[in-house]
Parts: sequence; structure tokens; C-alpha cells
Amino acid sequence: MAMDMPEKNYNIARPYLKWAGGKTQLLFELEKRLPSSIKESRIIERYVEPFVGGGAMFFYLKNYYQVRESLLLDINPELIIAYQVIQRDPHKLIALLMSMEEEHLKKSEDARKDNFYRIRDEFNQNRLLINYEEYGDEWISRAASLIFLNKTCFNGLFRLNSKGEFNVPFGRYKNPRICDEVNLQAVHQALKKTEIQCADFTQARQYINEDTLVYLDPPYRPLNSTSHFTNYSRERFSDLDQKKLAKFYREMDSRGAYLILSNSDPKNNDPNDNFFDELYHGYEIERVPAKRNINSNITRRGEIKELIIRNFKE
Ligand SMILES: C[S@@+](CC[C@H](N)C(=O)[O-])C[C@H]1O[C@@H](n2cnc3c(N)ncnc32)[C@H](O)[C@@H]1O
Repeated sequence: MAMDMPEKNYNIARPYLKWAGGKTQLLFELEKRLPSSIKESRIIERYVEPFVGGGAMFFYLKNYYQVRESLLLDINPELIIAYQVIQRDPHKLIALLMSMEEEHLKKSEDARKDNFYRIRDEFNQNRLLINYEEYGDEWISRAASLIFLNKTCFNGLFRLNSKGEFNVPFGRYKNPRICDEVNLQAVHQALKKTEIQCADFTQARQYINEDTLVYLDPPYRPLNSTSHFTNYSRERFSDLDQKKLAKFYREMDSRGAYLILSNSDPKNNDPNDNFFDELYHGYEIERVPAKRNINSNITRRGEIKELIIRNFKE
């Protein structure tokens, strides 16, 4: 586990990608529910986030607390490549992204669209060639393409089709900010001495002890049978996975870790749906107002609740 010494952060780090289920909107509710010992001391001995996604909570905590050790996991290899590149090669990444931005913004709307599809095609073809196991220079251009696509695609999503191809269409933006250099530098600072792994959440097990704060934000259980927007990877996170996660939660609870889990509330759609109430019976289950940005069920936008489940009160 990587050790971080107290270090002054001059710039606020924010998620560098727009990610489905991103938790920026929920930070206020989550911070209120941190263990009181952490709120008082402003120190987090060990932080583990097994479903890091865009990392809203991690970056927030790094900005305002002293996080001594941290581990971030996600099963999405493209996302983890981008994190590792920002950690190791921020300058090369920024230089590449800057030239991509310059190139793109001087084009007409139609030419921008062609440019987007060219980069998307290349990104999809290269996935068969890239070595996901070993860090290499080709990771830098892959991370740059992912960030470019995320900033220029429709709705700023990352979504793969059943063949594993990125298939989000072109989005029309006046002046997309493709290279946010200041934030990328701040993210780089925040990631220094953080361990980042592409792995299933269960792999976090070995790092979790009584000094650990674990924030778990798994893929949402779809609000209804048609909302499949949580396809971060080809595999869906099924009810069976949610059950496996609840078992993991109980196991980590018995180790004495502080656990905070968030998820969509199925009661938004069906007040009789007790799926999570049953899975997490005996824990602190709270329902807080949340705005869901990426929701296929547009009529319910803005009026939903999110679940926050903790294994502690104070
Ligand atoms: C709701 S998102 C997390 C969003 C994040 N909290 C944020 O603020 O952006 C869920 C994440 O879990 C990842 N994921 C899905 N299945 C996983 C698994 N079995 N193990 C680890 N990560 C997984 C997805 O790739 C996705 O990035």
C-alpha cells in the first residue's frame, strides 16, 4: 500500500473524466457521514475505494484531509490506464492533449465530427493491440484518446457496446475543454503515492483493516428494466454481484473498518422493493436526496433518493 506524507495541495483536484454515477453531487451528504474521529482530526490513516470511477470522493478527501495511505481499484482497464498515466507521465499526457485540443478546436463543426469518429475508430481498433498488463508509452496516447472522447462525446459518457467498443456518438459543444492542465496537475499531485489497480473489488480485501475508511460506490442497480446506462464495461453488475458485495461488506465490517456505501434506491421506483434493506439489515441505512445526471428515465430526473449505508453511527 502506498504511503503519503502530509503535503500541501495548492490546487483543488476534481474528477478529470465525466463518469456515469459520479458522486460530486453527493459529496456534501457523504462528508457529513464520515466517522467523527476523522472529521475532528482531519486525518485518514488508510483510504480504500474499490469502485473508483471518476474518483469524486477520493479527490475531495485528498483536497481537505490528510490521507496517509490510499488504494483505488476499478475493473475498467481504460480508466485505470488513464489514472496510471496521470500518475506517472502527466507532462507527456498534457502536451499530447493540448495538441489534440488545438487541432480539434480550429476545425469546422463537420471536420470536428470527422475528427471525433477517426479518434474513436482508432481507439476501438487499438484495444486489440494494446498490452493492458504492462505500462508502456502507448498507454499515454490511449489515456489522451479516452479523455478526448470523454470531453467531446455526447453527454460525456464512457460506454461500451457488447463487442467492447466505445460507441458513444459525437457531442456538439462550442468550445470543449479537452486539456484542463491545472486540474490534471492537481490530479497528478493527488495521485502521488496512491496505489491504483485494475481489479475486481474483492481484491481490496487484503488492504482493509481497522484503520481503513472504505467508500464503496458500485454500479447502480438499474432503476427500471430499461435503464442500462451503467455499462462501464461489458459485464453488468447483477443482483448476484450486489449480494456478493454485501457479503464482502459484512466481512470487512468484522475487521473493524469504517464502511460507507452508496447506491441507487430501488424504492424510487417501487416503494415495496426492499432489496438493499434486506441485504444490509442491521446497518445504518439512510436515504438522501440526489440528482441523477445520467438517467435514461428522463421524467424522474432530479427527484430521486440515494442510499447511504454505513456500519457506524458516529
Ligand atoms: C458508480 S461508478 C463509481 C463512480 C464514482 N464513485 C465517481 O464518483 O465517479 C461504479 C464503478 O465500478 C466499476 N466496477 C464495476 N464492476 C466492478 C467490479 N466488479 N470491481 C471493481 N469495480 C467495478 C465500474 O467500472 C465503475 O467505474
